[in-house]
Order: sequence, then structure tokens, then C-alpha cells
Amino acid sequence: MRIFSRILGTGSYLPEKRLTNADLAAELAQQGVETSDDWIVERTGIRARHFAADAQGSSDLATEAARQALGAAGISADDLDLIIVATSTPDMVFPSVATMVQHKLGAAGCPAFDVQAVCSGFIYALTIADSMIQSGSAKCALVIGSEVFSRILDFQDRTTCVLFGDGAGAVILEASDQPGILATDLHADGKYKDILCVPGHVNRGGILGDPVLKMDGQAVFKLAVGVLEDTARASLAKANLTDADIDWLIPHQANIRIMQSTAKKLKVSVDKVVVTVDQHGNTSAASIPLALDTAVRDGRIQRGQTLMLEGVGGGFTWGSVLLRY
Ligand code: ACO
Repeated sequence: MRIFSRILGTGSYLPEKRLTNADLAAELAQQGVETSDDWIVERTGIRARHFAADAQGSSDLATEAARQALGAAGISADDLDLIIVATSTPDMVFPSVATMVQHKLGAAGCPAFDVQAVCSGFIYALTIADSMIQSGSAKCALVIGSEVFSRILDFQDRTTCVLFGDGAGAVILEASDQPGILATDLHADGKYKDILCVPGHVNRGGILGDPVLKMDGQAVFKLAVGVLEDTARASLAKANLTDADIDWLIPHQANIRIMQSTAKKLKVSVDKVVVTVDQHGNTSAASIPLALDTAVRDGRIQRGQTLMLEGVGGGFTWGSVLLRY
């Protein structure tokens, strides 16, 4: 009998500090950087984002989201036999955020590790957890996307600093004879490494390079729309389903125009697209589980529905997970 990975519960966390576009524009103006609510809304659909407090790291956000997911699933941290965190903004070079979350949850012993695939990180992490559950090496997995992108933004660069926010989202996956994750699809192409990157690293106690986010926005836009259609179609084909079977499309929340173009290409009506980019900005690996948890908690997503989760991000990386909720 096939073993499926089924979502038992979801959770999320947003830091307290919320900045509307007007708030951010006012802060940037003090540093001589000009932007406006009109520009940001028109080009991206973003209206607000949350920024972590100085003392908060990715592991703190991740732990809050994990506690909510555990509560929704009705299990305790001791029941987990796998923890994976998708992040590109870890608390430290090492150890991993996942081991920190494990300790903060009061658990010990089960494998815990991070996955770094930038905005596709949660899709990568979910796929790995699904493979481990299908192989029998895990039965109950905590999968988290958590980011503090505010730490790697250049607030002198208005073309990027208005786009991102901080947050975390989590799911509990359990082995089940009921569907479950139906199909997954992952890709990467390193030749695009320069169009979205943070080109700096730690070297002998200092930083070499420029450790802030750099992006060629138009190149990212073009690439994202194409691969998001391709990967969704690949997952549908693997599960013998069509775009008409999608109840909810939950894409990476980078830009409303990318999401609308993808929905159009997939012939999914816009009212079936879960949108949180307006309130969260782009939270990278956290954006998909944050959107999922939002639509589960407000009652839009119901048991038995078919969800298409898909992401694209730095690397370039992209992929999708098709599942029956
Ligand atoms: N406020 C006001 N004006 C701005 C701002 C800003 N924040 N940023 C740029 N501008 C100006 C530019 O200076 C330029 O002015 P000019 O014409 O006088 O030179 C003008 O707006 C147009 O700039 P473009 O960069 O051409 O704007 P574009 O329409 O391409 O929109 C954007 C930029 C929103 C970044 C778009 O390219 C995009 O959405 N790309 C996708 C990138 C993305 O979503 N990245 C997220 C990370 S990647 C991921 O998650 C997959």
C-alpha cells in the first residue's frame, strides 16, 4: 500500500512590527531614499510587511510557527521524528536553525537540518520530508519556512528594500494511507546565480563581498513566470490531474503580477489564488507556508481539496508540490 504524507496541522508567525508602505516610505525618506505607496502597490501588490525585532532570529520565528502547527495537529514535540527548516537567513553560520528549533521546542534526538533554496526552500523541504516519509524513515515531520530578510536588505536600494518582509510558516506532515502529497517536482539552474543573490561571505572574522540582496528584477520576473507554469504542469502530469482539478493555487508570494500571470497561464481563476503578498511582502521560504496557514485558518481551504504549492527563487531554484489537503 502506498504511504502518503498528509498535512496534519499548520501554523505561522509574523513579528509584531508592521510597516505599511507609507510607514516604510517615511523611514526611507529620512535616509534620502524616495518611494511611495502608489509605486509599490502598482508594481508589486505589496501594502505592508513585518520586520523582526533586533533580538529575534529565524529560529525564534520558526519556533512560534512550529508551536502553532503542533497545536493545530494536536501532537507534542516529542512525537516528531524529523525537523526541516527552509531558510536563507539563519541565526548563525552553524548550527542549523532546525537544531535550535528542536531545542526550543524541548525535543531531542530526531534528525534536524536546514535546507537552503531561497524562495523555493519550503517546496524543497516539503519534498525531502515527503520522500523520507514515503521511504519509511520518518512518520511525523515538522517542516518550516522561516526568514528574517530585513537583515540582508540594502535600505539605500529602493528597487529591492520595499519588496521583502520577515515571518515563518510551518506544517506537520504525518505518514498516512490517505492522500496526501500527490506529486512533487524540483529544479535548479545555477547559471542564473547572479540575477538574485547576496554576494558576501564570512572570511577570517570579517565579511568579504557585499552581504546585501542584489536583484535584476526584470530578469527574475521573466524567468519566474515561465518556470512556475512548467513546474505546476509537471506535478499535475505526474498525478494524472489537470489544471481544472486545482482548488487552490498557493504560489510563492513575491509579486502579485507574477502570481496573476502564472494563474492565467494555468487557467486558474484569480479567486482560487491565495494572496498574502499584500500584507506580508515577500518572505522568501516562509511565504508559501504563511499563505497556506492563512487560508486554512480563515476557512477557505477545506479537507479533501487539491492544492498546488509552487515556488521560485535564487539559484535559480523552482518546484511544486501538489497535494490533497
Ligand atoms: N519606488 C519608486 N520608484 C522606484 C522604486 C521604488 N521602490 N524602485 C524602482 N523605482 C523606479 C526605477 O528607478 C525606475 O525609474 P526610471 O524609469 O526613472 O529609471 C522605475 O521605477 C522603473 O523601474 P524598473 O526596475 O524598470 O521597474 P519594474 O517595472 O521592472 O518593477 C520590480 C520592478 C517590481 C522589482 C519588478 O521588476 C519585479 O517585480 N520583478 C520581480 C522580482 C521579484 O519579485 N523579486 C522578488 C524576489 S525573487 C523571488 O522571490 C522569486
